[in-house]
Amino acid sequence: MNGIISIEGGVPLYGRVRVEGAKNACLPIMAASLLCEGQITLRDIPALEDVYTMCKVLTALGAHTDYNPEEKKLLLETSHLSGAVAPYELVRKMRASFLVIGPLLARTGQARVSLPGGCAIGIRPIDLHLKGLKAMGAEVIIGHGFIETIADKLHGERIYLDFPSVGATENIMMAAALAEGTTIIENAAEEPEVVDLARFINSMGGHISGAGTDTIRIHGVSSLSCTDYTVIPDRIEAGTFMLSAAITGGTVTVENVIPAHLTPLIAKLKEVGCEVVEEEALIHIRRTGPIRAVDVKTLPYPGFPTDLQSPMMALLTFAKGTSVITETVFENRFMHVDELRRMGAQIKIESHCAVVSGRDKLYGAPVKSTDLRAGAALVLAGLAAEGRTDVGAIYHIDRGYWNLTEKLASLGANITRTEQSH
Ligand code: UD1
Repeated sequence: MNGIISIEGGVPLYGRVRVEGAKNACLPIMAASLLCEGQITLRDIPALEDVYTMCKVLTALGAHTDYNPEEKKLLLETSHLSGAVAPYELVRKMRASFLVIGPLLARTGQARVSLPGGCAIGIRPIDLHLKGLKAMGAEVIIGHGFIETIADKLHGERIYLDFPSVGATENIMMAAALAEGTTIIENAAEEPEVVDLARFINSMGGHISGAGTDTIRIHGVSSLSCTDYTVIPDRIEAGTFMLSAAITGGTVTVENVIPAHLTPLIAKLKEVGCEVVEEEALIHIRRTGPIRAVDVKTLPYPGFPTDLQSPMMALLTFAKGTSVITETVFENRFMHVDELRRMGAQIKIESHCAVVSGRDKLYGAPVKSTDLRAGAALVLAGLAAEGRTDVGAIYHIDRGYWNLTEKLASLGANITRTEQSH
């Protein structure tokens, strides 16, 4: 099924909203379950399309998955793996399927994963993932649209990443967890989801230290055991709700958050003119005055997250003045700009920068999601625009937001979802 999200804009949002478990923590943790021979219980797993796709990938490899969306609980039984191939239909649908290559190789000695190929937000190569696996002793063969990796036994190595790639750090960390000896990843990604993956592997008996810094040490162990684990809250979903309060001039309390994970967004929202109050697992956000223009540059964590770049741009289209948004993480992440322009936004693209000249008003229009976060940005713009916005291709939104329409409606938004056949 696909559908359309329709919004009558101009209603300030008020109330409390709870954030789900982090999609970008769930996916690598699900892949890492392949490292253990036994049953794993994962909690706070949201009913997202990407979670269902990862379940299918694990099933294709012989794991047994039992997901209860009401309880947000996922049981994974990984004692007997019968396959070593992650098929094209699944990897094409979700690039994060490539995360199974490291744990599968470490556990079984071989892994065959379809090449992920291009993707709407950029080329997204996998050279750093492969560089790491090769350094640990894997043979890598590329052909017929697949990457095949083989290794009798992986060994620890010192690996420097040219860029702190989240996926490469995670794949190498998972492979190294069962390798012989110690692996050191230098210039590693420091994202909270990388830290959560390390904590998960350690909860299975792994020996990983330094996650959350640029140097991660993984002492390989001979086997890992069953665990019961709750994933961290989704900082990007939390950020989206914070922006929904900011863009509509409302007052919202976001529950189930780790405020420290949102430091760059909180800083920018304060610059914009919002009041933001942090508590232990809550963030209160309120905007009463005008939106001030600010410059934003996306960077690896702890910099401003690229996943909030398009939602932040939606906010800045209403600012008093000109904002410059620089995207340094992905090379083609401005596809939402054309759609925002259709709503009356004034945005110029110059190479990796978007120059946003704020307007007093945007006008509702039919628009189309081009990727997950672009979809969220269009919904946000629709919440503040005058008149009706119909956001199409919302299957992108379903990949990463659970019940977005219902949650925004509970805050008072005039928003509905209509299902359509593909
Ligand atoms: C993850 C997140 C995604 C987020 C991104 C950056 C998941 C499932 N997805 O994606 O939501 O936007 O981090 O925070 O967690 N690169 C290389 N070579 C490689 C790997 C990456 O050059 O081998 C480049 C990419 O092309 C991109 C940059 O590094 O320009 C960042 O990619 P990476 O950090 O790997 O993002 P993902 O793990 O794919």
